[in-house]
Amino acid sequence: MAINISKLRGTAGAITYDPGYANTGSCLSTVTFVDGEKGILKYRGYKIEDLAEKASFLEVIYLVVYEKLPNKAELDEFDKKIRANSVIPEGMKTILDGIPKDAHPMATLSIMLTSLATYFPFNVDKPETVEDATIKLLGMIRTLSAYGFRKSRGESYIDPNPENSYVGDFLNMMYGKIDPTVEKAMNKLLILHADHEQNCSASSVRMVGSSKSNLYAVIGAGVTALWGELHGGANQKVLEQLQLIVDDGNDYMKYVNMAKDKSTGFRLMGFGHRVYKNFDPRATILKSSADDVLATLGKQDPLLDIAKNLEKIAIEDDYFKARKLFPNVDFYSGIIYKALEIPNEMMTVMFSLGRLPGWIAQWKEWMNDPSFRIHRPRQVFMGDTDNKWVDINNR
Ligand code: SDX
Repeated sequence: MAINISKLRGTAGAITYDPGYANTGSCLSTVTFVDGEKGILKYRGYKIEDLAEKASFLEVIYLVVYEKLPNKAELDEFDKKIRANSVIPEGMKTILDGIPKDAHPMATLSIMLTSLATYFPFNVDKPETVEDATIKLLGMIRTLSAYGFRKSRGESYIDPNPENSYVGDFLNMMYGKIDPTVEKAMNKLLILHADHEQNCSASSVRMVGSSKSNLYAVIGAGVTALWGELHGGANQKVLEQLQLIVDDGNDYMKYVNMAKDKSTGFRLMGFGHRVYKNFDPRATILKSSADDVLATLGKQDPLLDIAKNLEKIAIEDDYFKARKLFPNVDFYSGIIYKALEIPNEMMTVMFSLGRLPGWIAQWKEWMNDPSFRIHRPRQVFMGDTDNKWVDINNR
């Protein structure tokens, strides 16, 4: 239920105040439905559990961006267009060459996606350029992510191969091989990250897009927002924290107690969520998937044992229960990515690969909304209003 306050300032002479927009609806949307109390997540009305189990990520991209599940002919046509738009302009390799080897991959990804605007025309009022940018972004984000990864390891680039599937070709560009188990797990991971209604990065994409800016640059802004450790950057931080606990003699209770002690400023990464207040359905799916992937790949991971101990604490401990802090999507995704040999610093890039269709869908929805206007919130001013000028020699 919502109260429309868009005319409040004009009628009641007041604005609302809601820091962080925690209780403010910014739009009407049909992309993703989340019921935080019941732990329900649906893309365009389809249950995440069904999509994760039965769909390909390419089908989910089509569903999220074009508002319907594609039939065979539509999916084949879409697939063909993406395969034909996966090779990046040669000059972009020169831009990549200028980026330091140890740069954070999210900085590299944001730069490279925005750089696509220097090669391809875009006009938000020309639907053909919107569709072209959509296909190029979906095709080239894999190439740019894989090139950035291989450059950081001093390895030569492996170019896109139109013979491979959407996810398979990304893996091939990353590692030069496609392991079916890895492709299956990656497909599920990317589906689980495809959209999540008005999260920080989706809201950023709507905000930046509302000035009618260039879609390539708007997506670059989405990557930048996702990078933060309170948002998509949490998956990398989860792994770093679990490793810290293992290195500290597996003393996970020490870190649980630190998280409960406000004076430490320490937070258990991968726990808590602004919307889900009982469980994150994606974490539930990923928890069982983590066991399957590790078993299939014949891998043991002490981090997973620590993770399960932390989850058990979160379910039983009053501090966590009172604040409804339980594992979110980032908690288990990091462990699976590690099993798939995705390095920690690449994990938020993987989140970006998954979330790109959601960003595009959220952007398109706002650009086509009958209420479309540039985002420009108000403020409650708390500063000085009557300071007198003083020359520098008298200050
Ligand atoms: C994602 O929005 C989305 O949908 C995001 C996402 C998506 O798909 O786009 O779902 C993906 O970003 C998941 C979240 C990943 N981030 C983390 O795992 C980082 C750790 N989590 C927290 O920083 C926090 O829980 C947030 C950022 C997720 C939510 O922050 P809120 O809603 O602003 O909650 P809050 O900071 O106001 O905390 C409420 C209370 C506070 O204690 P009190 O002041 O009430 O006593 O809970 C405490 C916090 O101190 N708290 C934690 C905690 N998270 C919140 N205490 C310890 N460890 C934590 N992780």
